[in-house]
Amino acid sequence: MNSQEETKGIELEYEILRDDFSRAGKASSNIKKMLRQLGIDSNIIRKTAIVAYEAEINIVIHSEGGTITVLINSNAIEILAKDRGPGIKDVELAMKVGYSTASNKVRELGFGAGMGLPNMKKFSDEFYIESPKGESTNIRMIMKL
Ligand SMILES: Nc1ncnc2c1ncn2[C@@H]1O[C@H](COP(=O)(O)OP(=O)(O)OP(=O)(O)O)[C@@H](O)[C@H]1O
Ligand SMILES: [Mg+2]
Repeated sequence: MNSQEETKGIELEYEILRDDFSRAGKASSNIKKMLRQLGIDSNIIRKTAIVAYEAEINIVIHSEGGTITVLINSNAIEILAKDRGPGIKDVELAMKVGYSTASNKVRELGFGAGMGLPNMKKFSDEFYIESPKGESTNIRMIMKL
Protein backbone atom coordinates (compact mmCIF):
# COMPACT_ATOMS: atom_id res chain seq x y z
CA MET A 1 0.00 0.00 0.00
CA ASN A 2 1.25 3.50 -0.65
CA SER A 3 1.10 6.00 2.18
CA GLN A 4 -2.22 7.48 1.10
CA GLU A 5 -3.87 4.05 0.98
CA GLU A 6 -2.37 3.21 4.32
CA THR A 7 -3.91 6.15 6.16
CA LYS A 8 -7.26 6.16 4.38
CA GLY A 9 -7.58 2.45 3.73
CA ILE A 10 -9.36 0.92 0.76
CA GLU A 11 -13.10 0.43 0.48
CA LEU A 12 -14.77 -1.44 -2.36
CA GLU A 13 -18.41 -2.37 -2.77
CA TYR A 14 -19.79 -5.06 -5.07
CA GLU A 15 -23.44 -5.37 -6.02
CA ILE A 16 -24.60 -8.99 -5.89
CA LEU A 17 -27.73 -10.01 -7.80
CA ARG A 18 -30.05 -12.84 -6.81
CA ASP A 19 -30.00 -15.99 -8.97
CA ASP A 20 -27.16 -14.59 -11.10
CA PHE A 21 -25.12 -17.78 -11.39
CA SER A 22 -23.19 -16.49 -14.42
CA ARG A 23 -21.54 -13.78 -12.29
CA ALA A 24 -21.52 -15.62 -8.96
CA GLY A 25 -17.99 -15.70 -7.60
CA LYS A 26 -16.81 -12.65 -9.56
CA ALA A 27 -16.71 -10.34 -6.55
CA SER A 28 -14.67 -12.74 -4.44
CA SER A 29 -12.22 -13.49 -7.26
CA ASN A 30 -11.82 -9.76 -7.78
CA ILE A 31 -11.12 -9.30 -4.07
CA LYS A 32 -8.54 -12.10 -4.21
CA LYS A 33 -6.80 -10.45 -7.17
CA MET A 34 -6.66 -7.11 -5.37
CA LEU A 35 -5.24 -8.65 -2.19
CA ARG A 36 -2.51 -10.31 -4.29
CA GLN A 37 -1.64 -6.95 -5.82
CA LEU A 38 -1.35 -5.49 -2.32
CA GLY A 39 1.12 -8.24 -1.40
CA ILE A 40 -1.01 -9.65 1.43
CA ASP A 41 0.11 -12.97 2.97
CA SER A 42 -1.11 -15.86 0.78
CA ASN A 43 -2.62 -17.77 3.69
CA ILE A 44 -4.75 -14.75 4.63
CA ILE A 45 -5.73 -14.28 0.98
CA ARG A 46 -6.85 -17.91 0.78
CA LYS A 47 -9.04 -17.62 3.88
CA THR A 48 -10.46 -14.25 2.80
CA ALA A 49 -11.31 -15.61 -0.65
CA ILE A 50 -13.17 -18.56 0.92
CA VAL A 51 -15.28 -16.44 3.29
CA ALA A 52 -16.04 -13.80 0.63
CA TYR A 53 -17.03 -16.50 -1.87
CA GLU A 54 -19.38 -18.24 0.59
CA ALA A 55 -21.00 -14.92 1.53
CA GLU A 56 -21.37 -13.96 -2.14
CA ILE A 57 -22.92 -17.30 -3.15
CA ASN A 58 -25.35 -17.16 -0.22
CA ILE A 59 -26.57 -13.75 -1.40
CA VAL A 60 -27.06 -15.15 -4.93
CA ILE A 61 -28.84 -18.31 -3.79
CA HIS A 62 -30.73 -17.38 -0.64
CA SER A 63 -31.43 -13.65 -0.80
CA GLU A 64 -33.13 -10.95 -2.82
CA GLY A 65 -29.70 -9.51 -3.65
CA GLY A 66 -27.30 -7.29 -1.75
CA THR A 67 -23.75 -6.09 -1.48
CA ILE A 68 -20.31 -7.29 -0.47
CA THR A 69 -18.07 -4.56 0.89
CA VAL A 70 -14.36 -4.96 1.55
CA LEU A 71 -12.47 -2.60 3.80
CA ILE A 72 -8.71 -2.88 4.06
CA ASN A 73 -6.38 -0.98 6.31
CA SER A 74 -2.96 -1.80 7.71
CA ASN A 75 -4.46 -3.86 10.57
CA ALA A 76 -7.22 -5.90 9.00
CA ILE A 77 -9.40 -6.89 6.08
CA GLU A 78 -13.10 -6.55 6.80
CA ILE A 79 -15.77 -8.21 4.66
CA LEU A 80 -19.36 -7.05 5.01
CA ALA A 81 -22.19 -8.98 3.37
CA LYS A 82 -25.58 -7.30 3.46
CA ASP A 83 -28.73 -8.27 1.66
CA ARG A 84 -32.29 -7.08 1.25
CA GLY A 85 -33.99 -10.12 2.68
CA PRO A 86 -35.71 -12.42 3.39
CA GLY A 87 -33.42 -12.79 6.42
CA ILE A 88 -32.78 -15.86 8.56
CA LYS A 89 -35.46 -16.71 11.11
CA ASP A 90 -33.26 -19.05 13.18
CA VAL A 91 -29.63 -17.97 12.93
CA GLU A 92 -28.40 -20.62 15.38
CA LEU A 93 -29.95 -23.37 13.23
CA ALA A 94 -28.56 -21.87 10.00
CA MET A 95 -25.07 -21.91 11.53
CA LYS A 96 -25.18 -25.70 12.05
CA VAL A 97 -22.98 -27.85 9.80
CA GLY A 98 -25.17 -29.56 7.19
CA TYR A 99 -28.23 -27.32 7.61
CA SER A 100 -29.47 -26.11 4.23
CA THR A 101 -32.71 -24.96 2.67
CA ALA A 102 -31.21 -25.01 -0.86
CA SER A 103 -33.58 -26.24 -3.58
CA ASN A 104 -32.90 -29.35 -5.65
CA LYS A 105 -32.05 -27.14 -8.61
CA VAL A 106 -29.38 -25.34 -6.57
CA ARG A 107 -28.07 -28.65 -5.19
CA GLU A 108 -27.62 -29.90 -8.76
CA LEU A 109 -25.30 -26.94 -9.30
CA GLY A 110 -23.15 -28.19 -6.42
CA PHE A 111 -24.34 -25.96 -3.60
CA GLY A 112 -26.39 -26.80 -0.54
CA ALA A 113 -24.03 -28.83 1.66
CA GLY A 114 -24.79 -26.50 4.56
CA MET A 115 -21.10 -25.65 4.94
CA GLY A 116 -20.97 -21.99 3.89
CA LEU A 117 -21.81 -20.28 7.18
CA PRO A 118 -19.77 -22.71 9.35
CA ASN A 119 -16.78 -22.16 7.05
CA MET A 120 -17.16 -18.36 7.18
CA LYS A 121 -16.98 -18.60 10.96
CA LYS A 122 -14.09 -21.08 10.88
CA PHE A 123 -11.88 -19.16 8.45
CA SER A 124 -12.38 -15.62 9.79
CA ASP A 125 -10.74 -14.20 12.92
CA GLU A 126 -13.97 -12.50 13.95
CA PHE A 127 -17.42 -13.40 12.68
CA TYR A 128 -20.71 -11.62 13.38
CA ILE A 129 -24.08 -12.47 11.89
CA GLU A 130 -27.38 -10.78 12.52
CA SER A 131 -30.77 -10.90 10.91
CA PRO A 132 -32.60 -7.82 12.19
CA LYS A 133 -36.24 -8.78 12.79
CA GLY A 134 -35.56 -11.82 10.59
CA GLU A 135 -35.93 -9.59 7.52
CA SER A 136 -32.42 -9.28 6.09
CA THR A 137 -28.98 -10.71 6.76
CA ASN A 138 -25.83 -8.85 7.78
CA ILE A 139 -22.52 -10.63 8.13
CA ARG A 140 -19.29 -8.99 9.24
CA MET A 141 -15.99 -10.85 9.07
CA ILE A 142 -12.56 -9.65 10.11
CA MET A 143 -9.23 -11.06 8.97
CA LYS A 144 -6.34 -9.70 10.98
CA LEU A 145 -3.22 -8.62 9.12
N1 LIG B 1 -28.05 -14.40 2.97
C1 LIG B 1 -28.95 -15.30 3.36
N2 LIG B 1 -30.28 -14.99 3.34
C2 LIG B 1 -31.21 -15.89 3.75
N3 LIG B 1 -30.91 -17.13 4.20
C3 LIG B 1 -29.61 -17.48 4.24
C4 LIG B 1 -28.57 -16.61 3.83
N4 LIG B 1 -27.38 -17.23 4.02
C5 LIG B 1 -27.68 -18.44 4.50
N5 LIG B 1 -29.01 -18.61 4.65
C6 LIG B 1 -29.71 -19.79 5.21
O1 LIG B 1 -28.80 -20.54 6.00
C7 LIG B 1 -28.65 -21.87 5.45
C8 LIG B 1 -27.21 -22.33 5.67
O2 LIG B 1 -26.30 -21.55 4.89
P1 LIG B 1 -24.92 -22.20 4.44
O3 LIG B 1 -24.18 -21.23 3.60
O4 LIG B 1 -24.23 -22.74 5.63
O5 LIG B 1 -25.38 -23.47 3.56
P2 LIG B 1 -25.95 -23.53 2.06
O6 LIG B 1 -25.76 -22.22 1.39
O7 LIG B 1 -27.34 -24.05 2.13
O8 LIG B 1 -24.99 -24.64 1.42
P3 LIG B 1 -23.44 -24.43 1.00
O9 LIG B 1 -23.00 -23.10 1.49
O10 LIG B 1 -22.69 -25.54 1.65
O11 LIG B 1 -23.44 -24.53 -0.51
C9 LIG B 1 -29.07 -21.75 4.01
O12 LIG B 1 -29.49 -22.98 3.44
C10 LIG B 1 -30.23 -20.74 4.13
O13 LIG B 1 -31.39 -21.37 4.63
MG1 LIG C 1 -23.92 -21.26 1.42
